[in-house]
Parts: sequence; C-alpha cells; structure tokens
Amino acid sequence: MQDQLLEPNPSFCSPLQTFAAPRQVLFVAPDSFRIDTAINVHMVDDSGQPRVVDFGRARAQWEALVEAYRPLVDRVHIARFASDLPDIVFCANQTLPLPPLNGGKKILMSSMKRPSRRPEVPYFKAFFEGLGYTTIEQPGQVDEPLEGMGDVLLVPAHEGGSRPCPPFLIAGYGERTSRKALDWVASQCSLALHALELKDPRFYHLDTCLSILGPQTALACREAFTAEGWATLENLFPQLLICPQAEANSPGFACNCHCPDGKTVVIQKGNLRTNALLREAGFGVTEVDTSEFIKAGGSVFCMKMMFW
Ligand code: ARG
Repeated sequence: MQDQLLEPNPSFCSPLQTFAAPRQVLFVAPDSFRIDTAINVHMVDDSGQPRVVDFGRARAQWEALVEAYRPLVDRVHIARFASDLPDIVFCANQTLPLPPLNGGKKILMSSMKRPSRRPEVPYFKAFFEGLGYTTIEQPGQVDEPLEGMGDVLLVPAHEGGSRPCPPFLIAGYGERTSRKALDWVASQCSLALHALELKDPRFYHLDTCLSILGPQTALACREAFTAEGWATLENLFPQLLICPQAEANSPGFACNCHCPDGKTVVIQKGNLRTNALLREAGFGVTEVDTSEFIKAGGSVFCMKMMFW
C-alpha cells in the first residue's frame, strides 16, 4: 500500500483557518496498571515472559509526570476511572480530539484493535461528554481499528516564512490503525491527512516513532518508516531531527516525547543523543522517568491527552 494524502472534507469550513494549540491535558490514574498479557513486543522480556511492573514505582513516576506538566499547560485534569483495565493509563489512544475549527468541540472515538483495550473507550466518551464535548463514533458498518492520538498527530499551521502552510494531520496505519479508518477520520474534519504505513512492530503507533515539535519541526526514527514515508516526512518538515534507533526503541522511547508548550520537550530520561539534538534545535528538555510504563510499551506521549 502506498502512502497517501487524503483531501479535507469540503463540507467543513476552510482548512486555512487557524486555531490555538490545546492547553488542557488529561491524565488517567494508573490504579489498575499492570502487565497481564503482552499486546505489543515491548511487554515481554528476552525469554518471552510478560515484564513485571513495580506498582509503587509506577505510581510515583506517574505522579512526577503530572507535576512536570503543571507549569507547561493551563489546566490539568486527572481522571480516576473505577475500572480494572491495565492499559487505561495510556490515555492518548481512546480518542482523537479535533481542533475547534467549526466552533464546536468534537472528539472522535477510537475502535481499539486489541480486544483487552476496547472497554476503555466508553470511560473517555463519558468523561468528554461530561465536559460538554460532542463525541463521534464510527458508524457500525465502518468499524475499523483506530487508536486515536497514538496514530493520528496534528501538525499546527505555519504562517509566513518560506512556506506558509495550513494545519494538517499525519497518521500511521498498518499496525494498530487501519488505512480505512483514516478515510473516516479525514471525512470528519477539515484537515488534509497524510497516511504513512507502519510495518515495524517495535514502532506500532505513530507516536512511538514521530514527535511533532512545531509546524516545521519533527523528531523521527528513520527505521520505522518505509522509504516513501520517510521521503514524505522530509518533504513536510524542513527541520527533521533524526532520532537514533537505539534511543527510539525501548527502553528509551525517545520519539514518544511531547512538547506541550512549543518550547519544552518532556522526554524519558537518559536519551542523551536525542536530548542534544533537541537542545541544538532550541528546545528546553525536561527529563522524566517513565521506565515502568515503557515496560508496557508507552512513555510520555501515550500517558496524556491534550485537548482544546
Ligand atoms: N500496552 C499499550 C498497548 O499496547 C501501550 C499503549 C501505548 N500508547 C501509545 N500511544 N503508544 O496498547
């Protein structure tokens, strides 16, 4: 399958309209976090056994992550869902908030590929509806796997400079999200969507191998993409920082970093080469320890949801 550009839905307003970056963040308490069954390659050790999580350490790491975000956003929401769902702490996956281009605030609901994660989605639907958002589910006949902001990333508008460019979406498919689900995403918004194929199970979500740091800047791991996909990234991002594979893979998970304020990158500690690249590019670096969560295949970006 080829990488493709899906055109924006013309029935929505002009894609040239801009919007401010999201300033609210949601975290979900890791009350039921553990590893029961491995649903990605990072969750087993060298002998194929599920990794063992230290629950006390995990809770302390999660609390420190929340504190690291407080100075970088306007509002922190903490949800405590009374559920026994080990992966629900990875709250980037169940939804896809759309930028408020039409006035209303819409959130697309995911259809999780892994059956163990499907019961997570209704908790997020209720949470966002409680805040007054409109939630939208795929119609039954289109129920294709879609894992929210794990696989669909927003690139903000770039105004002025050599290449003014409207905001757009960039999405990964093939591992957790299907190519067809992306047609549905594109049909629900006024943004163009670049679809890139993912084939390496270590980089099973786009957010494990690509981090959008600004309208023209991204950090990405070359080995995670097809030659065509990499060429698309080079074309889209004049400043493409190349993350060494050894740091992008677990236990570094460097590309799963996140830049909530356009200036500061929150990243798993110890990714020395990536940190140097980020600093050279003018970013501040805040190191956190998410090592217990990396055992389950997720770090900073997976553990939060930014919304408008
Ligand atoms: N164990 C979870 C899974 O395999 C981890 C999800 C991490 N999230 C992410 N956005 N990469 O689904």
